[in-house]
Amino acid sequence: MKNAYDRFVRPLLFSIDPETAHHFTIACLRAASHIHPILSALNRFSPDPKPKSLFGLDFRNPIGLAAGLDKNGVALPTWAALGFGFVEIGTITAKAQPGNPKPRIFRFPEQQALINRLGFNNDGAAAIAIRLGKLKRSGRWPDVKVGINIGKSMSTPIGEASADYLHSFQLLKEFADYVVLNVSSPNTPGLRDLQGAEALAELLRTIGQKNIANRKPIVVKIAPDLELNQLEQIIATCEANNVSAIIATNTTLDHSSIPADQDQQGGLSGAPVRQKSSALIREIAARSTIPIIASGGILDADSAREKFEAGAGLVQIYTGLIYRGPGLLREIAGAIA
Ligand SMILES: Cc1cc2nc3c(=O)[nH]c(=O)nc-3n(C[C@H](O)[C@H](O)[C@H](O)COP(=O)(O)O)c2cc1C
Repeated sequence: MKNAYDRFVRPLLFSIDPETAHHFTIACLRAASHIHPILSALNRFSPDPKPKSLFGLDFRNPIGLAAGLDKNGVALPTWAALGFGFVEIGTITAKAQPGNPKPRIFRFPEQQALINRLGFNNDGAAAIAIRLGKLKRSGRWPDVKVGINIGKSMSTPIGEASADYLHSFQLLKEFADYVVLNVSSPNTPGLRDLQGAEALAELLRTIGQKNIANRKPIVVKIAPDLELNQLEQIIATCEANNVSAIIATNTTLDHSSIPADQDQQGGLSGAPVRQKSSALIREIAARSTIPIIASGGILDADSAREKFEAGAGLVQIYTGLIYRGPGLLREIAGAIA
């Protein structure tokens, strides 16, 4: 049965350029976050509580907003009112940056997929810390867990990545329930090299040294395109450095599901990454007890269930929200035992 999103909202949004549709949606969500009657109205459609505790945090339900939709943290109260159990903002970099040239988001409706090569366009850690500080002081900070996802500024050499992440961490940690080190976006050259054991250990040590008082859970977000031996090294490095959870996975560089004449450079998300992400989750769960947050190709209750069965404790959605709308939240929540 078609809901209002299927009938009206998606056709409208899909009739315009993907990035324009994105900015329009974020502007609406941002405006709504200041209007109490709208938040209350949205809240009435949010799913019933399905509490879940993981790495010391209590989530009201295990369904989160994946990073990249609200990069600048402008609509936290609205995401909470829609019923998400947790909201991950970012990726945020130490320096404000415009990202790659447009166009840089592409839809593939037949494959229920997106390709993006945004390149961490964001307002920068300092401006976002000011925004979050204002929200805190206004008393409108929502009752939902907030993850802050940080990455490397494009202009910072990869050899200086740790200092760049640390700068963002220091500015933003006070607002975060957990902090994600994104070492897996394909759109910042060299970033994925930070998944190598030595580079990852250095990054985790650098952050760890400044994460002693009021310790924040540190989460590492990994790519789906990893060899087993790379994955094993990542798990060992995460365990050795007290990482609280792994997010599996980011977008894929495997574009085999996209016809060659339509292909675009960038990270592929949505249905085509589902199996790959689930397989990686199974590999992690077979080797470690480290908590897993699933991301990749969750477009319905079945694909969400698959992630929990594979070993995930929490799930996150991005492309599914674009294709299915916020009703997807209730659909997934309804399928959780
Ligand atoms: C347009 C777009 C932008 C994204 N930006 C980010 C980002 O800034 N940081 C990040 O960690 N992941 C980012 N992602 C990846 C998503 O958070 C998610 O891990 C990935 O898309 C797989 O989940 P999905 O199939 O539900 O979309 C982005 C994805 C898309 C489609």
